[in-house]
Amino acid sequence: MKNELIHRVKETFVECFEKEPLLVFSPGRINLIGEHTDYNNGLVFPAAIDKGIVVGLSKSNSGTCNLYALDMKETYRFDLSKIEPIPNGNWKNYILGVIAEIQKLGLKISDFNCVFSGNIPRGSGMSSSAALENSIVFGLNKLFNLELTKHQMILISQKAEHNYVGVQCGIMDQYASMFGIENGALLLDCKTLKAQRIPIDFGLYEIVLINSNVKHELSESAYNDRHAVCTKVSKLLEKESLREVSFTDLEAIKKHINNEDYNKVLYVLEEIERVEQFAKSVEKQDLESMGNLLFQSHKGLSEKYKVSCNELDFLVSEAKKCDEVIGARMMGGGFGGCTINLVLKSELQNFENKISKVYQNKFEKACDVYKVKLSEGTRLV
Ligand code: GLA
Repeated sequence: MKNELIHRVKETFVECFEKEPLLVFSPGRINLIGEHTDYNNGLVFPAAIDKGIVVGLSKSNSGTCNLYALDMKETYRFDLSKIEPIPNGNWKNYILGVIAEIQKLGLKISDFNCVFSGNIPRGSGMSSSAALENSIVFGLNKLFNLELTKHQMILISQKAEHNYVGVQCGIMDQYASMFGIENGALLLDCKTLKAQRIPIDFGLYEIVLINSNVKHELSESAYNDRHAVCTKVSKLLEKESLREVSFTDLEAIKKHINNEDYNKVLYVLEEIERVEQFAKSVEKQDLESMGNLLFQSHKGLSEKYKVSCNELDFLVSEAKKCDEVIGARMMGGGFGGCTINLVLKSELQNFENKISKVYQNKFEKACDVYKVKLSEGTRLV
């Protein structure tokens, strides 16, 4: 699948620009647990997957930069000295944002050609955006010998999203996509940006994603609203972030904030604890406890943090009814996208059939079921 993608990008590139490109693969990510904790300097537990984006790049001497989004069949041509965000610019803003952040650092790049394509289902919450940003910054770094470290690159990708896309995202997606490892996940402390690489083997169980195939239009502003609540409460408590806030601190200001905000902050504090507990359960291979933590995480996301939706709640509650599922929750920013489930391998087909049928009956649309392979991060191919 990935080789096919690489081949397609390479062939198209040669057709368009009559030159062999530099090729980069950057993966999407899943997240085992730790949702909406990254921008609170908390803990997360993501992993890079075997689906992602392939970018082909070369220097250009045509006097402009030329981009081609192969899947959308859209081209874009621009002048490096006149970069700004494009209203509703979609994929273009991820690329322009990365270039702008590179330029802000005083680093020089010259005109280039670019073709890209991916196999991460759109709107699935597997972070095709971080994969695109990372593949571009990684590729430009090589092409123009910028000598950026991977840590600098992910910060560039994140800022591109803040400044050009307008989403105040944390660092989880970019980190996981850049630093992912084969058959393992990253227990990342977003305060120190240090991660432990944890081998993942769920024994008789495996990770299964179910795509609700919904994407709510207001998800980006709702995301920024959540971010703003967390910042407001940290400020009120004179703390740098919610990571420094304790349950006692929160109780002390309960009277001074509204109930909604209280619940949101409570969710974040609880979720950071759940990540720690989950990591311990992984160490002990205690699948039952892992599964329970996933269900608890979903409940918090849905009832306290309010980033779920009917479709995701339904998928999780149906999964809970199945004996072959030991844990499930919504994954990523929310308001659509996928649930992540731990499912007994031998019963996977049975589970897939059941869930697809009930989902179709309830919402009159299909869900998609994917298995994922935990893979290495951004790299040259
Ligand atoms: C999106 C953001 C991440 C993270 C998740 C929620 O994927 O890009 O930074 O906040 O949502 O955990």
